[in-house]
Amino acid sequence: MIGICEVLGAGFQFDNAERRDWLFRDIDFQIPEGECVALMGPSGTGKTTLLHGLAGIAQLSEGTSKLNGTQISGISQREVREHLRESVAIIFQEHLLIPSLILFENVELSWALAGKPKNITPTTVLDRLAIGDERDSLPEAVSGGQAQRVAIARALAGGPKLLFADEPTGSLDEDNARRAMGEITDWCSAQDAHALIVTHDPGIAELCDRIVRLDEGTINA
Ligand SMILES: Nc1ncnc2c1ncn2[C@@H]1O[C@H](COP(=O)(O)OP(=O)(O)O)[C@@H](O)[C@H]1O
Ligand SMILES: [Mg+2]
Repeated sequence: MIGICEVLGAGFQFDNAERRDWLFRDIDFQIPEGECVALMGPSGTGKTTLLHGLAGIAQLSEGTSKLNGTQISGISQREVREHLRESVAIIFQEHLLIPSLILFENVELSWALAGKPKNITPTTVLDRLAIGDERDSLPEAVSGGQAQRVAIARALAGGPKLLFADEPTGSLDEDNARRAMGEITDWCSAQDAHALIVTHDPGIAELCDRIVRLDEGTINA
């Protein structure tokens, strides 16, 4: 089976005065073609670090990582960025909206940078996530849950082939969490896209095709 995203022998070692141990090590993991995979595990086990390593925005201490068949370990940061911009979107745990842009512009920017994909628009994706009424607000003026929905809208507006989502429903009530997951899984099935979704919520994980667990430095499928 070909993985759309895969790591072999992934490890992350702390390298500072307080800690030199391994957060995780010897991890082989892949998102097969056509799957949405849920990554679960206790807080502090390294889910965010692994997701950033897989996505190419954090350096793993060991291992090799491929995205869409391209080896992203050992290439320049510039090449990684170009590759990411083409087909990968990330929903960060802290949302990371641009504070000086209104919500609509946060989404529009991602859409424009991706070449204005025809199968999605900033307006429709904001409306579908029930956040369209707040489109002219600045990020500071909305709640964490509203900001999270905008972060999801921004990721989808880039028309990703591969979506990394770090606890994308962590600040949402049940209705909005279901709606947001519906948008993500609908996107994946309609566009033949793939996702890795970190979540603590078993109800959310069940909506994915497969669940893997990261615990005590190893992966359990
Ligand atoms: N670059 C780093 N330097 C030091 N500690 C880190 C670094 N990155 C992550 N950590 C620590 O590693 C642990 C795992 O972090 P994280 O990947 O955010 O876990 P999770 O997402 O599973 O909660 C945490 O204790 C965090 O503080
Ligand atoms: Mg985390």
